[in-house]
Amino acid sequence: MKIYNIALLAGDGTGKEVTDEAVKILKAVGEKYSIGFNFEPALIGGCAYDKYKTPLPEVTLDIAKKSDAVLLGAVGDWKYDTLPPEVRPERALLGIRKELNLFANLRPATVYPELTSLSPLKEEFVSGTDIMIVRELTGDVYFGTPKGIETRNGEKFGFNNMCYYESEIRRIAHTAFKVAMQRNKKLCSVDKANVLDVSRLWREIVTDVSKEYPEVELSNMYVDNAAMQIIRNPKQFDVILTGNIFGDILSDEASMLSGSLGLLPSASLSDTKLAMYEPIHGSAPDLKGQNIVNPIATILSAAMMLKYSFKLDEEYHAIETAIRKALKDGYRTKDIAQQGFSIIGTSKMGDIIKDNILNSL
Ligand code: IPM
Ligand code: MG
Repeated sequence: MKIYNIALLAGDGTGKEVTDEAVKILKAVGEKYSIGFNFEPALIGGCAYDKYKTPLPEVTLDIAKKSDAVLLGAVGDWKYDTLPPEVRPERALLGIRKELNLFANLRPATVYPELTSLSPLKEEFVSGTDIMIVRELTGDVYFGTPKGIETRNGEKFGFNNMCYYESEIRRIAHTAFKVAMQRNKKLCSVDKANVLDVSRLWREIVTDVSKEYPEVELSNMYVDNAAMQIIRNPKQFDVILTGNIFGDILSDEASMLSGSLGLLPSASLSDTKLAMYEPIHGSAPDLKGQNIVNPIATILSAAMMLKYSFKLDEEYHAIETAIRKALKDGYRTKDIAQQGFSIIGTSKMGDIIKDNILNSL
């Protein structure tokens, strides 16, 4: 029996509640398809700070590096808001992305037919939306130097540096074109080339890489326009390629097409086999311990792990089908509550999806 070792980084807030359900689902998949999953838990974020005085301890990084894939819940809690920036929980997330060289972040924004009425946007605009956002994850203004807060001209001055090496743009562009080749072969690269030099380089390199993918139709869009187009006509997009900060913002925006942040997974890939999977939502500390958050984003992240890290396509589809059946059968967590449906808790949603997997043919 094939055995996969998964580093399990639940993190803070509701991170544990959602990863517990993803583990439940992976175990069900293991049972059904005779695959072994070993889970090695490790601390990350505020809980790691409490124990080790750092949000990303070496032991966690070691466990992650030795694993076949990393499953992450979420990090952050208001109680750490007053910590110095270098030990805040969010730093761990940026740190692990950088340490594992997870430069390619895949964030699908899929609108499930069962849930189109949930979107704050009109159904006719969102139904059928299926966008894959490819976000560069280890560069840009997130990591650029110089940065800091200094005193200049007698007042405080804050600064960051939005910058990309050509090689960084090239490799994420290749990822995006390859993703597009597996989909509808349409790629929209989003930048701010009318204002930013770094974006002019971005556009130049993406255009150059596009020559290697003649079948993919490339378009370029300014980020302000893209923000508007995602709301106005989301169905025009297949794959969106963009940098770290624009991707951060546009992926939260795109999640509202589906109606809830609690539905959207992500995969962060490197150029080695190692990859990390996490929901795009945060740790929601205000909801912690109440068994009310939606585990679907994390369960879908585990499904992406099967697909991208382990090439287990059938098992990936089994999870997706089980989720859709749960939704079709009318099960809803609070964030996706609708009139006429009964609301269930986090663990019950996991149980139902699990049963659907085990009982499917
Ligand atoms: C995300 C989050 C993170 C980011 C934060 C928590 C550092 O918003 O994964 O989208 O900005 O990348
Ligand atoms: Mg974000």
